[in-house]
Amino acid sequence: MINVSVLGYGTVGSGVVEILKENADLITKRAGEEIRVKSVLDLRDFPGDPVQDMIVHDFEEIKNDPDVQIVVETMGGVHPAYEFVKASLESGKSVSTSNKALVAAYGPELLEIAQEHNVNFLFEASVGGGIPIIRPLKISLAPDEILEISGILNGTTNYILTEMTNNGSAFDTVLKDAQDKGYAEKDPTADVEGYDACRKIAILTSLAYGKQLDFEDIYTEGITKITDRDICYAKKIGAKVKIFGSSKKVGDKVSAMVAPKLITSEHPLYSVDGVFNAILVKGNMVGDVMFYGQGAGKLATASAVVSDVIDEAKHVNVNMRTLWDHEKLALMPMDEVKS
Ligand code: HSE
Repeated sequence: MINVSVLGYGTVGSGVVEILKENADLITKRAGEEIRVKSVLDLRDFPGDPVQDMIVHDFEEIKNDPDVQIVVETMGGVHPAYEFVKASLESGKSVSTSNKALVAAYGPELLEIAQEHNVNFLFEASVGGGIPIIRPLKISLAPDEILEISGILNGTTNYILTEMTNNGSAFDTVLKDAQDKGYAEKDPTADVEGYDACRKIAILTSLAYGKQLDFEDIYTEGITKITDRDICYAKKIGAKVKIFGSSKKVGDKVSAMVAPKLITSEHPLYSVDGVFNAILVKGNMVGDVMFYGQGAGKLATASAVVSDVIDEAKHVNVNMRTLWDHEKLALMPMDEVKS
């Protein structure tokens, strides 16, 4: 049995608890043993909710609990997330986080602390919501030199731009809608000003080259200067306005920025609408690879967090057979397959 503690019972944290419960059987099978949530750190109480029995208000309780092997950090913000994650790693617990602000600011330090304590610091959910991108970049694209990364990295702004384009919706109304749907950050300034996408491209670029790219140094422009008139003109010429985070290798340096772009239907990301994100990676051997999926939201992001937890559980109890055994997969007859 692997015991997990979840720090923060907000949108993503509650999604993690839900997925570990809903998909418990298949997760147990794939992880090689049962993964259960032992405690949930939150300032609030949740009377009547089954999670109430697991609620703790003091992080020290989790840090000092020898049964907890994995800590999930879904609080957001840099402090006290940094202090809690650092203390968790130092007390021998692996950590999975969805917190891009934390990873962009303290990634190398936390990776080092994890290594010193023989545990892991994992952050699949920090970029692209539910899209697997960290692990593929680290593992599947390991043979390649990465030449370019470019993508729509923020679900909230893509959702706002899509609604403004397709339905003529007002900026404030759609932003409120994105907040209600759990896409936006606690302070949506991070989304609309491009800071969220900036941290994400910093993380991807740092991973691609194995060196830290400071997010403060990246030119960043969000959607707040885009007017209804811009959207209207774009539509007239058959184009769309999208916010791109991109970085490119130029000699022995990289260029990186977050900025609006006008793209036409020939562009591979033209049809990436709504809360969806897409990331194009160019490797010097593999060529272009595209990653696409829901870039924000409770279950999509929580799914990426749980993928880290399962990965970690497998390292705790390595059993490759759990990945694929001899049991037959039930195959649906072709005449029942709906087109
Ligand atoms: N606020 C972020 C977004 C959440 O809209 O993309 C996922 O990182």
